[in-house]
Parts: sequence; C-alpha cells; structure tokens
Amino acid sequence: MTSQPTGSPHTFRIAAIPADGVGKEVVVAGRAVLDALAQRSEGRFAFSWTEFPWGCGHYERTGRMMDDDGLETLKDFDALYFGAVGWPTVPDHISLWGLRLKICQNFDQWANVRPVHFHPGVVSPLRKADTTELDWVVVRENSEGEYAGFGGRNLSGRGPGNEVALQTALFTEAGCERIIRFAFELASTRARRKVSSVTKSNAQQYGMVLWDETFERVAQDYPDVETESVLVDAMSAKFVLHPEDLSVVVASNLNADILSDLGSALAGSLGLAASANLNPERRFPSMFEPVHGSAPDIAGRGLANPIGAVGSAALMLEHFGLPDEAARLQKSIEATTGAGILTRDVGGDASTDRVVEALIDNLAL
Ligand SMILES: NC(=O)c1ccc[n+]([C@@H]2O[C@H](COP(=O)([O-])OP(=O)(O)OC[C@H]3O[C@@H](n4cnc5c(N)ncnc54)[C@H](O)[C@@H]3O)[C@@H](O)[C@H]2O)c1
Repeated sequence: MTSQPTGSPHTFRIAAIPADGVGKEVVVAGRAVLDALAQRSEGRFAFSWTEFPWGCGHYERTGRMMDDDGLETLKDFDALYFGAVGWPTVPDHISLWGLRLKICQNFDQWANVRPVHFHPGVVSPLRKADTTELDWVVVRENSEGEYAGFGGRNLSGRGPGNEVALQTALFTEAGCERIIRFAFELASTRARRKVSSVTKSNAQQYGMVLWDETFERVAQDYPDVETESVLVDAMSAKFVLHPEDLSVVVASNLNADILSDLGSALAGSLGLAASANLNPERRFPSMFEPVHGSAPDIAGRGLANPIGAVGSAALMLEHFGLPDEAARLQKSIEATTGAGILTRDVGGDASTDRVVEALIDNLAL
C-alpha cells in the first residue's frame, strides 16, 4: 500500500483499487489526468491517493481477494476509484464476489449510473448515430435482484449429472422504489424528461411484477416525466432501432448490466463506458469504475482505452460537487477523440499513454 497524505482542507482522499489486467493500466491513466486537473486548479483542490494491491494476484498470494479488514479500511475514504477485477487463473465468481461485489453490497452502493456517450471521432456501429443526437443513462439497481447471491448447490452426492443449483433473485419493494425514484429524479434534471423501466415481468411473475407495480406507483409522483415499461428483449431491440427515444433507462441488476454493455458497444467500444456505484445517502464511500472488465486479451500491452476510466473520474468529480471540473474532463475527452487520438478498439493506433497525454493537454482548452 502506498499513500501520500496531505493536510489541505480541499484534499479528496481516494482509495485506488486497480485490481487486474487493464484495470491497472486505466487506473494509472485516470490518476494522471485527475492529478493534472488538480495541478491546474491553483490550489483549490487536490487528491490524496492510497493504492490497494487487491485482486487476483493478491488472491494467489494470500487466498483472499482483499484483506479481511479491507471494508473497515475503505469506509473512511471520500471515494473509491476501481479498475477491473478478474483473471483467468481465478474463477470469475470468486474474484467478482471477493472484491467488487463485496464492496458494492457492503457499502450499499445501490445505484449504478452508466451514461452512454457518443464521442466525436469515434465511429458508432449504429447508423443512427451519424445523424441523431444520442444521449442516455442506464440506471442499474445494484444491491439485489439477480445478483443478490441467494441460492445453493446440492445433490452432487447422487453422482455425475445429478447436481441441482438454485439462484434466487431478490426484489424488495423498498429496493425497487429507491432505484426507480432515483431514476425519476435524474430524469427530472435532463433535457428529455423520460424514464424507461425494463423488466421481464411476463415470464418472471413475482419480483418483476412487484417492480412494474412500484414503477407505476412512483411515476404518479412525477407527472412531468414521460414513462414507458418495456420488456428487456424488446428494449435490446430498441437500443439499436430507436435509441433517440431513450433518456433514462432503469432496470434490475442483471438486465441493466447487459443493456449497458450493449449501449457502450453501440457508442463504439466497451472501453469508452463510465460508471458510478453510488451510495446516495453518503453513509459509505461511492465507487467509480469503467464498465469494462480486465480484458486479459489486451492487458499489459499499452492498448487499453482509458476513456471509460477517465469518464468515471468525471462522475467522481460530480459526486465531489465539482461539476465544472467534471465538464472540463468531458470536454477534454471530446477534444481528444475528436482529434482522432484513439486506441485500437475504436479504430485508432494510439497507445494508452498517448491518449492520456492528449487528455492532459486538452484540459487547457
Ligand atoms: N467490473 C469488473 O470488474 C468486471 C466487469 C466485467 C468483466 N469482468 C471480468 O473481466 C474478465 C474479462 O471479462 P470479459 O472478457 O468478459 O470482458 P472485458 O470487458 O474484460 O472484455 C470484453 C472485450 O472488450 C475489450 N475491452 C475491455 N476493456 C477495454 C479497454 N479499456 N480498452 C480496449 N478494449 C477493451 C476486451 O479486449 C475484450 O475484447 C473476467 O474475469 C470478468 O469476470 C470484470
């Protein structure tokens, strides 16, 4: 663990958890851009970083994805800046539950906000993006649903081929209500005041019907916000065919996870997508991370697109109450992609470092 304490009252204390694969590269990138931004702030704010070496390497060394007292250590930070977790040497359910989900669930980061930005200079596979302004946010329920972790495996004693597994989704009315209300509040701040609720309530008749009914009830408190309820299969088609009709899309843990990857692929690459895991009550630190995983296929080669991680840093600045600085970071991202300084995943040949260099230069614009 390395730390650089500072005494400034404007210093934000951030725990960096790069974890695995390209997570390490994009966290270095995001930190460099944030530190450059702080340097240009003329002493108004600074970041004090503490880095934690948790992830699959730590698991191989210690048998644990994070230290036993890790949550206790993290809870006093102003925010967590996360890379990505997962490596082929450790089963994915162990790495994910041992670190990222452990943090999200214990810190009650129940709102996962995933904006989909279409960047200048990045060719979208969606033809509509050539002629239409596209801009939406996926709001993901991040504390229960299909990722509640309830269930079990049994009957393996009966011999090969006979094991049974149960994976139970948890839907509480309070859990549905808080994320749906969050989505309406967010929609109320946007140019297009619309919330699209996504379920699969025709087939999943308990939890998802509770979600639908809660959505209808909460919607009555927001008469100025347009609404629609769409089944997840139809919504995946709508992402492609009518993306201009979306503003805020709210869905359960699994459905929103899938839809947000679809959204970032439509914007050009998974490497572009940012995300915030928020504890809106601020009882615990919130966590900011790119949507993508550890990308073992390109890790360690300087090919990682840092824009998802830098966009996540912009969401962290908003959370810190620095909207102008967040906007400055977004502007720098747009100037960089607009100038054609792009990594390989979005059709360019720039290295991660080259993109970071351009992002820092473009902070001056
Ligand atoms: N939040 C997380 O920590 C998270 C999310 C998803 C997957 N994972 C884990 O990551 C590992 C790999 O999973 P996966 O391959 O399904 O998904 P992935 O997101 O790591 O990769 C999918 C594809 O996107 C590309 N990609 C991802 N990030 C990129 C970036 N920054 N720049 C350029 N290209 C990028 C990869 O090269 C790959 O082709 C697994 O262990 C998985 O469990 C972690």
